[in-house]
Amino acid sequence: MDLGLSGKTVVVSGASRGIGRAIAESFAKEGARVALVARGEQELATLCASLREQGADAHAVVADVQTEAGAAAAIEKATALLGPIEILVNNVGGSLGSGKFADVSLADFRRVVDLNMWSAVYMSHAALGGMKQRAAGVILHVSSISAREYCSSAPYAAAKAALSGLTKEMAVDLAALNIRVNAIAPGSILFEGGSWDRRSKSDPARIEKMKREELPFGRFGTPQEVAEVAVFLCSARASWVSGSTVVVDGAQGRAL
Ligand SMILES: NC(=O)c1ccc[n+]([C@@H]2O[C@H](COP(=O)([O-])OP(=O)(O)OC[C@H]3O[C@@H](n4cnc5c(N)ncnc54)[C@H](OP(=O)(O)O)[C@@H]3O)[C@@H](O)[C@H]2O)c1
Repeated sequence: MDLGLSGKTVVVSGASRGIGRAIAESFAKEGARVALVARGEQELATLCASLREQGADAHAVVADVQTEAGAAAAIEKATALLGPIEILVNNVGGSLGSGKFADVSLADFRRVVDLNMWSAVYMSHAALGGMKQRAAGVILHVSSISAREYCSSAPYAAAKAALSGLTKEMAVDLAALNIRVNAIAPGSILFEGGSWDRRSKSDPARIEKMKREELPFGRFGTPQEVAEVAVFLCSARASWVSGSTVVVDGAQGRAL
């Protein structure tokens, strides 16, 4: 299937590791021109150099997208490198280890919402100008199954649920501008250095129990399995998909 992504201008936030990295690499393999955004300069530079060695048109954009100014700077720099942005993937997020409602401070609550929800709002807002200019655009938010299921982090669950509402509203409001908006909701995804890798090492017995009881396939998902769906949703092959939150979780938690 030709995804029609060759030459498309793409920004992926949180692209130096894990799910964001797999999404950026998958776009690059499809011939898209990609700006990879993260705060850590070295990790980004190494990844972009390796992608370019493989023939990809990949660029590093160092920015903190959790702030309005940082997100605006990221889109400005990406636009200077690639031209108007056609596809935006808002992948930055995480729970920051903050947790249960009774324990989490309001400052930490706000930080998690800033990271997961406001980063997506800031980036989308900043990218709209270029999308209007081309009268075409696709925005994909990376949510989580934590938007619908208990995950022992109130701010993370609230912020991810907010992304689902945002997706629906943006999809309707931006349809007249020929901009599609979707979200993807991964289940637990394992990769080296990621949060589930850390938990597997610190509490292997708990993780084995989780695999038996909550993961019907007996394993975690991989970043590539999320990336394949993300890239498809952003492609012309998904031209009639807008306003959806697509779950990619191997039926996680359904047996409970
Ligand atoms: N892993 C899972 O099991 C899972 C499951 C469901 C949903 N998700 C969602 O999937 C997304 C990616 O998760 P992941 O586990 O792959 O993440 P991760 O390993 O924590 O990587 C996060 C990426 O975002 C960058 N980043 C973090 N804060 C940033 C900021 N303020 N500005 C710019 N870049 C920033 C990081 O690089 P720097 O630190 O260098 O900035 C890194 O590239 C998140 O939205 C997460 O909530 C993950």
